[in-house]
Amino acid sequence: MAVETAAISQEAVVPAAPAPATAVSVTWHNRIATISRERCARCHHEGGAGPFALLTPDDFSGAATMISEAVESGIMPPWVASAASGPFRYDGRLRPDEKQDLLTWLKAGCPVGVATAPEVPFVPQRGWGIGEPDLVVPIAEAVAIPPSGVVDYLKVSAPTGLDRVVWVQAIQILCEHPTICHHVLARVSYPGTAHQEFVDFYLPGSVPTIYPDGMAMMLRPGAVIEFDLHYTPDGVAHRERTSIGFKFAKGPPQQRVRCRILDHGGKLSIPPGAANHEVSYEFRFPADTHIRRLTPHMHLRGKSARIEIVAPDGAVTTPIELPQWLPDWQFSYEFMEPLFIPKGTLIRGIHVFDNSKANPFNPDPTARVRNGPQIWDEMAGVFIEMFSPVDSPLVPIAERDRVGGEGDGR
Ligand code: HEC
Repeated sequence: MAVETAAISQEAVVPAAPAPATAVSVTWHNRIATISRERCARCHHEGGAGPFALLTPDDFSGAATMISEAVESGIMPPWVASAASGPFRYDGRLRPDEKQDLLTWLKAGCPVGVATAPEVPFVPQRGWGIGEPDLVVPIAEAVAIPPSGVVDYLKVSAPTGLDRVVWVQAIQILCEHPTICHHVLARVSYPGTAHQEFVDFYLPGSVPTIYPDGMAMMLRPGAVIEFDLHYTPDGVAHRERTSIGFKFAKGPPQQRVRCRILDHGGKLSIPPGAANHEVSYEFRFPADTHIRRLTPHMHLRGKSARIEIVAPDGAVTTPIELPQWLPDWQFSYEFMEPLFIPKGTLIRGIHVFDNSKANPFNPDPTARVRNGPQIWDEMAGVFIEMFSPVDSPLVPIAERDRVGGEGDGR
């Protein structure tokens, strides 16, 4: 019933939406303050991931032309998924009416207008948004980031020191200097096995991962966090010691989160210069589950990606389509409502690579590109965050999930 009510109320809202904006009607106080707070400030504040603050009318009027161009062209706010994808919990897009009002306002000279109520201040999230963690795993040594130049991608293993099983309800990757943290991927491995699980992904402006009560992810003794770190200099020298924090569940959960890496396997071979090299892979779920979050992954030669779900009756849906892959903006896509995946459902990833010189990110169009962890190698895959009742059968996925062989209810 709840769904029906939501649909009806949404329809009812449409005719009441604000009339098309005119230069006179849009002001900072009546419209833009909210758009800035909700859509830009998360990254564009002092010490945030964006290169400058966008918190006041002056911040905007001082760079009106550049902002108009970035918004008009869709470069800002950064968002990669197609309009038909989702719906997602955190959607970076400006709605069409927001975009139009922002552009109209910039063109009109950024009028401030009159405040009718106290302005809601933007409060940047600093430190642990999950609360004080029960376990913090930092990289062993701070990394020296020069003021300029290119910092190679880093891979760092950090042991958790865990000697018992813990149930994790909240996860956050914390960068000491958000201005230089371009993205961080965290996986967990267990020495002596090939088993790896996706844990979390940090990107400028990303929010911590918090599971609802009764849902948690298991970390087992000996767990090691594998960080992939991408730092970009911001004009000042820094020493950065990125960490990941875990908050434990209050009690044993009913639903267990399992994060699997599903990929194309080790068979990638992208010819030199190929502009449209397509690969796909698929997996049939052997048991019922729910998908909470999907994170498609490629490196610099990625061109586009699509994740399809084929229901047992053959119906195909495309929960995520990334028409233009941007290696700098690898988002984790959390669904507004988890996707129910009945036993027998197929998930399929379709990725296209551009190894031609037309790809501005391509480090070497003359190379044949194969699988590998380095940024100049490639990967075609998706990290799948699922949950199902704690006592339900495991959902193995990639070969790497089956090799470790502990058989201990991973
Ligand atoms: C998820 C974080 C994030 C959000 C949200 C965001 N930005 Fe940005 N913005 C950045 C980063 C990071 C850069 C630096 C360039 C880059 O890395 O692509 C940037 C650069 C810019 C630039 C410079 C563009 C250029 O060509 O160099 C403009 C203008 C801009 N942002 C405007 C906005 C506006 C306006 C909004 C809100 C409507 C917004 N941004 C929302 C992160 C963000």
